[in-house]
Amino acid sequence: MPDPPTNRRDFLQHTSIAGAGLLVPAFALANPQQPSPKAKDAEDISPAEDLMREHGVLNRILLIYDDHLRMLAAKQTFDGSILVSAADVIRHFIEEYHEKLEEDFLFPRFRKAGKLVSLVDTLLAQHKAGRRLTAQIRELAALPTLKYVSDADKLADTLRAFLRMYRPHEAREDTVLFPAFRSIVSAHEYDALGDDFEKKEDELFGDDGFFKVVDQVAELEKKLGIYDLAQFTPK
Ligand SMILES: [Fe+2]
Ligand SMILES: [Fe+2]
Repeated sequence: MPDPPTNRRDFLQHTSIAGAGLLVPAFALANPQQPSPKAKDAEDISPAEDLMREHGVLNRILLIYDDHLRMLAAKQTFDGSILVSAADVIRHFIEEYHEKLEEDFLFPRFRKAGKLVSLVDTLLAQHKAGRRLTAQIRELAALPTLKYVSDADKLADTLRAFLRMYRPHEAREDTVLFPAFRSIVSAHEYDALGDDFEKKEDELFGDDGFFKVVDQVAELEKKLGIYDLAQFTPK
């Protein structure tokens, strides 16, 4: 466990990255041979539920980004490896998997149906912009120290830009794109896509891959001290 953030004024001398990047191999190590009691539930979900619970993972990373913005604003020290790991979840689970599902399975069907084409264009442009922001976040968070004020400012600006874009992005997908998707494919195709999504998830992250990623995000939350949900209930 890293030391909790402190209020030292010299917050720029921080960001030890010991252990940075350890998250990625954990995906690769997922063992597809191991049966799990959760596997059956995971197989039965619809494409929309699948994509929306992936947004839940995205939201939990956004909360981790929020917490880092708070620490940057308060000039607190923090362990940069947590932010590196969070950006790696975005890269591997959201960008290379979730957004790829949207780009390969949803967007072309909307274009073919001539529906919500302008929305799809914007969502695709935002996926591309998101990848650029993630590369910057990862690069800045991995610096052994955020030696210069300009680096800390740039990290804060980049985190802010990511949050500003992704909250409306995912909200629009949840409330407009995903509900409309059901109406442009047949019931049979819709069910089959749910199976395809799960198969792809298992291929990339191992059996029960979604739950493994959730567990990894929970570990990051615990390190930051934001895991305990009850702390957010107003007294
Ligand atoms: Fe998207
Ligand atoms: Fe999405």
